[in-house]
Amino acid sequence: MTENVLYYGDNLDILRRYTTDETIDLIYLDPPFKSNQDYNVLFAKQNGSRSTAQIRAFKDTWRWDEAAAASYHEVVERGGKVAQAMLAFRTYLSENDVMAYLAMMAPRLIELRRVLKDTGSIYLHCDPTASHYLKMLMDAAFGAGNFCNEVIWHYRKWPAGKYSFQRNHDVLLFYSRSESRKRTFNQLFMKRTASTLKRFGTAKIVSGYDKSGRRLPSKTANKASAGVRQDDVWEIGRVPPIKQLFPTEKPESLLERIITASSNEGDIILDPFCGCGTTIAVAQRLKRRWIGIDITHLAITLIKHRLTDAWAHYKAPGSKPQYKVVGEPKDLSGAQTLADEDPYQFQWWALGLVDARPVEQKKGADKGIDGRLYFHDEADSKKAKTKQIVFSVKSGHVSVSHVRDLRGVVEREKAEIGVFICMQKATKAMRAEAASAGFYKSPWGTRHATMQILTVEELLSGKTVDYPHSEGVNVTFNKAPKAKAKKEAHPELSYPEATAK
Ligand SMILES: C[S@@+](CC[C@H](N)C(=O)[O-])C[C@H]1O[C@@H](n2cnc3c(N)ncnc32)[C@H](O)[C@@H]1O
Repeated sequence: MTENVLYYGDNLDILRRYTTDETIDLIYLDPPFKSNQDYNVLFAKQNGSRSTAQIRAFKDTWRWDEAAAASYHEVVERGGKVAQAMLAFRTYLSENDVMAYLAMMAPRLIELRRVLKDTGSIYLHCDPTASHYLKMLMDAAFGAGNFCNEVIWHYRKWPAGKYSFQRNHDVLLFYSRSESRKRTFNQLFMKRTASTLKRFGTAKIVSGYDKSGRRLPSKTANKASAGVRQDDVWEIGRVPPIKQLFPTEKPESLLERIITASSNEGDIILDPFCGCGTTIAVAQRLKRRWIGIDITHLAITLIKHRLTDAWAHYKAPGSKPQYKVVGEPKDLSGAQTLADEDPYQFQWWALGLVDARPVEQKKGADKGIDGRLYFHDEADSKKAKTKQIVFSVKSGHVSVSHVRDLRGVVEREKAEIGVFICMQKATKAMRAEAASAGFYKSPWGTRHATMQILTVEELLSGKTVDYPHSEGVNVTFNKAPKAKAKKEAHPELSYPEATAK
């Protein structure tokens, strides 16, 4: 049995290096849209209000540059339908940013087709800014004959823009790898509306369908009909900003529909742009195996916490998710390489090791803080005051002034503890400064140094922050949705038994 895996890295590279041909049952991808916007990760504060802290998790702006040109030429040189589509796009669009976006997508779609099983399906999530181009690219990559649906995900949001209709939908392009008879597809049913039931009553409804969609004779219809067949316009609420782990987080019920319809228990689901892991959380809950890829350590950290938090609340024993993480630094030189390549990623990774949540540095109220950890240490968790640890992370040269600065931040923030994480060994002066800050005493009577210094080497060997510790005490990631029992999770739909392939 293939194990569940979280990969940190560029999905094109990961797919080429680790994923063998025709091994995946279902792919859902939600790439950054071509909406000319930089997404920032906004974290909700513990009291539920918006934090001003922002972190750039990924750029959603595409420019025609050397990388885009190289990607374009690679696809064109391969030949085939995708190459033809790209040549046509280039004639029409020239070298603009839409073209750069398509040049990024084209080689990935080729790889995704390669790894999909004969019975498999793919859902590409996009919005009307790019869906028309992407549909042509999907036709080229998967074959126009394998197009199944353009699903409209309709939601409500705050009104914006006076001179056009409110834009309230995303588009899901659903294709299969081969002809319709082969694909895994479990028919879903919508509940009958109150007015239909009132008008006909259940006894008078004669139009039932069996699992393969055939109309049943009226005699058997009443028993078999679980409602009307699910159509291609899905009304599902967005994740409210206050509950989001990630600004582009998708609702679990959207993924429940996709995964239930297009896979069976034990199947392998791939999300190559997995963000905060909505696909993974749902796949795990619905007893599918999964592979997630993301290019930020922040996403990988959020997913790990999401899985732990969700399953801490899951009643079924033995259901704790088992998975491995590939691509994270395993030793000091790996950590140094990451720090040299991208100091932000290094910070996110290091903070993930101590279960802290990153915040943007040097911004307003968060000046001097790279991460925070919130905890409860009183007997009654409902009445407990939320306490905090603030973090500063440095990958370069360090000195006693850094520890002194953090000590000032701890006092300013009225935090219980301050933790300084560094690559270099702490000097005697740094240790002395930290020691002079005294201790935090918990209501349980335990003592914990107010100022702590942790080197990356120590973190890699398993050392962690010293604070009043036990299961459930760290409430930093409590925004993660709790895993629910299957039936409650999606009340408006009924699920038939899975079809055999
Ligand atoms: C729109 S978000 C996905 C949100 C996700 N569906 C969820 O519910 O959380 C896109 C994600 O793709 C990631 N990403 C962008 N380019 C990538 C690449 N080349 N390889 C892997 N991940 C990438 C970003 O870091 C971001 O987390």
